[in-house]
Amino acid sequence: MPASIVIFGASGDLTSRKLVPSLYQLFRKKRLPTPTRIVGFSRSPFTHEQWRDSLRESTAKFLEKDFDPKIWDEFAAQIYYQAGDIGEPKDFAQLGKFLDDLEGGNQTTRIYYLATAPRFYEPAVTQLGASGLADESHGPRRIVVEKPFGTDQASARRLNEHMHRVFRESQVYRIDHYLGKETVQNMMVLRFANTIFEPVWNRNYVDHVQITVAEEVKVGRRGDYYDTAGVLRDMFQNHLLQLMMVTAMEAPVKFDADQVRNEKVKVLQAVRPMTRVNVAQDTLRAQYDGYRQEPGVAPNSQTATFAVLKLSVDNWRWQGVPFYLRSGKAMSCRTTQIVIQFREPPHQMFPNRAGNDANRLVIQVQPAEGIQLHFQTKVPDAGMDLRFTDLDFSFQREFHGALPEAYERLLQDVLAGDASLFARADEVELAWGIIDPILATWDATGEPPVLTYEAGLWGPMESIEWMHRQRREWFDACPVLE
Ligand code: BG6
Repeated sequence: MPASIVIFGASGDLTSRKLVPSLYQLFRKKRLPTPTRIVGFSRSPFTHEQWRDSLRESTAKFLEKDFDPKIWDEFAAQIYYQAGDIGEPKDFAQLGKFLDDLEGGNQTTRIYYLATAPRFYEPAVTQLGASGLADESHGPRRIVVEKPFGTDQASARRLNEHMHRVFRESQVYRIDHYLGKETVQNMMVLRFANTIFEPVWNRNYVDHVQITVAEEVKVGRRGDYYDTAGVLRDMFQNHLLQLMMVTAMEAPVKFDADQVRNEKVKVLQAVRPMTRVNVAQDTLRAQYDGYRQEPGVAPNSQTATFAVLKLSVDNWRWQGVPFYLRSGKAMSCRTTQIVIQFREPPHQMFPNRAGNDANRLVIQVQPAEGIQLHFQTKVPDAGMDLRFTDLDFSFQREFHGALPEAYERLLQDVLAGDASLFARADEVELAWGIIDPILATWDATGEPPVLTYEAGLWGPMESIEWMHRQRREWFDACPVLE
């Protein structure tokens, strides 16, 4: 069936950096329905030609060698622009007319992509409903919503209720681009398409789990936004909790949207709520040195740019196994890792083990995507001396070529009507339900205090000591694979 993708917020960064390059790649790989029309909507007064020209330039810049001018010209022939204001009913009436003319009354899948600032989500949904654009008599209508989905549980719930006045839940696709990453999807394959991992993937064999999303970048030009959000809202409520869900979930009976999301939601339901005492003991927060001097940041800001949460999952599989979630800006390097730290063997019969290292499985989510298994080995010709060594799997080495951009997979799934890799309404609300009490306690009690760390480290020194007090150690490795 033909498709029309309407992008609200067409003149924004997300459109030029991610959406249009990803759609171009899908077109190049012949994965878009024929025809797929892309219609930009925003207030800037572009003509179709002007918008195409500006997208051509940005797409060529972001895709570099993957950009082929001939293919672009074919692709761009289906790009259109319709100027309009999200607050104006008549602009939606015009948009509707424009789409109807383009589609010629044929059954067409329509995707409305909200790539706008979050304050426009509700008005855009209202207008789509009021102007009849959500009506499905001429084909499926789907809406894609970018993050952040609300700023706390109450606002997320209000936004969900608002969306549901116009769209059924099955028409709503809430983006978390981490779910579009190949390595995150591969977690489900690793766990549920193999037999050797699941038997040890539980409290009997796992000591703890570390999920780290370290970024080298600072807040840059995003100080205004970031200072009101902080690392918990910006990274934990969505990306870190998503990584935790795919690590901790039970096997769904089928790989379909409802079954997968039912299992993920159960993980969030099992996360033990934090009391004030837990928040003081089991969380850390810090700011990189110089953060308060960034443009847009308040000079006395208490916003955390780094945090650690120690979460407990109260179910049979994970009782007593802490999940350490950690993320920060201005850290040593860009690396996202899920580390499954196994227990020590129950009996040590080799006196010359290398350190106290127990087995570890490292899922290198990005960059240098892959998996590494760490284990003890006998050093040849050295009596019974042991050494800690590893087995590697690298996507790059195995499959050659760069991995696709997360948005390619996500856009393809929206077009196909598969919501498995999108957050469901209850999932988003539950995730906020974990984050809200922590933020509220931080604000109300000032505990734990906001620490400072030097840019380019693994967060504050206190984080290392905090882990040592629990007789554990952070696995601080810049991408383990080349
Ligand atoms: C975004 C956050 O959701 O994710 C950014 O708002 C962060 O602050 C980004 O930099 C990280 O995404 P990725 O794909 O580069 O790990």
